[in-house]
Amino acid sequence: EKSGYPHFMLKEIHEQPRAVMETLHGALHDQLIPEAVELLANAEKVYVTGAGTSFHAAEHFSITGTRLAGKPIISFISSEYDTYLPAAGEGDVLIVVSQSGETMDSLKALRAFKRKGVRVISVSNVIDSAIPRESHVTLYTRAGPEIGVAATKTFTTQTTLLTYLAVRLGEATGQLDAGEREGILRSISSAGELVKKALEDTGERAKKLASAISRSSSAYYLSRGVGVPVAKEGALKIKEIAYIHAESYPAGESKHGPIALVEKSFPVVFVIPNDTYLETLLLGNIEEMKARGAFTVGVGPEGSRAVELLNDYIPVPRTHWALTPLTHTIPLQLLAYYAAVEKGFDPDKPRNLAKTVTVE
Ligand code: F6R
Repeated sequence: EKSGYPHFMLKEIHEQPRAVMETLHGALHDQLIPEAVELLANAEKVYVTGAGTSFHAAEHFSITGTRLAGKPIISFISSEYDTYLPAAGEGDVLIVVSQSGETMDSLKALRAFKRKGVRVISVSNVIDSAIPRESHVTLYTRAGPEIGVAATKTFTTQTTLLTYLAVRLGEATGQLDAGEREGILRSISSAGELVKKALEDTGERAKKLASAISRSSSAYYLSRGVGVPVAKEGALKIKEIAYIHAESYPAGESKHGPIALVEKSFPVVFVIPNDTYLETLLLGNIEEMKARGAFTVGVGPEGSRAVELLNDYIPVPRTHWALTPLTHTIPLQLLAYYAAVEKGFDPDKPRNLAKTVTVE
């Protein structure tokens, strides 16, 4: 049932155009979206949480929601809920993001917040799993079953749904500019084609890059703003299946410590979002890595000014900034996949990992 693909992971990477389209269509017709939007718009504080890849999708919502709806959204890793609990109470809303709907860390966060009177919205891929059962409202992604342990279509479907939710929240708060709303809705309606084009355009380049990177034991994945959760997701993928130590942090932090580790040929992957302001800021970060002899790679829109500074560049379709996870994540997934294969590991069965983590 791998449909001719050598691994489930590669099959699922290629299922993403359909998965994101079906998720979007589901959301467009979901009667519960208005309910979720009302809860969020009237909330005193909005929290969003998840573990692993789902936490990266949660961070994406925090960034897009804050930027599009002008409402601060607090993201945290679900196992860290204790830290955030003292300030939470009635009038607040928690969004729990979980593909399986069974992750114990996320379920415990949900229960603790609920006990304090917080309303809970979940985003899940599995109907009637534990987290949806205990939520006030659930919005479903339509990724279909994900067999590969490394989450792939999970992330692109979650970020599709959450970006749409952020737009609707922006309408409700009145903070979303009409032109921006138009642009983002136009881009999101072609989400399937964008992902498909990213797959077609980047496969070969990612494979070539994988053979260079697979010889390294360590790498940095850097970005700014909306690209940060995408960079973190790229680093998580290459860690968990290719066993390359990868660290991801907002690029402005380099000079505050991490650059000390950079020497000749140290790989640094830059996620350059579809946002000219962030792109301009990243040019300086690329220069500072280049000056230390790093092997610099960029994933970013076609025609970026960064191209000439970088050692290697993987262009992705240019679209609205909020859709950065849909385009830029694709080559990062493929890079991790091909690096694992190159090193002789089975990407479907990463060591020490389970698909669903039902223990704390
Ligand atoms: C990473 C991965 C994990 C899961 C995490 C949460 O590739 O698969 O990080 O994302 O365990 O799982 P869910 O979304 O089922 O709560």
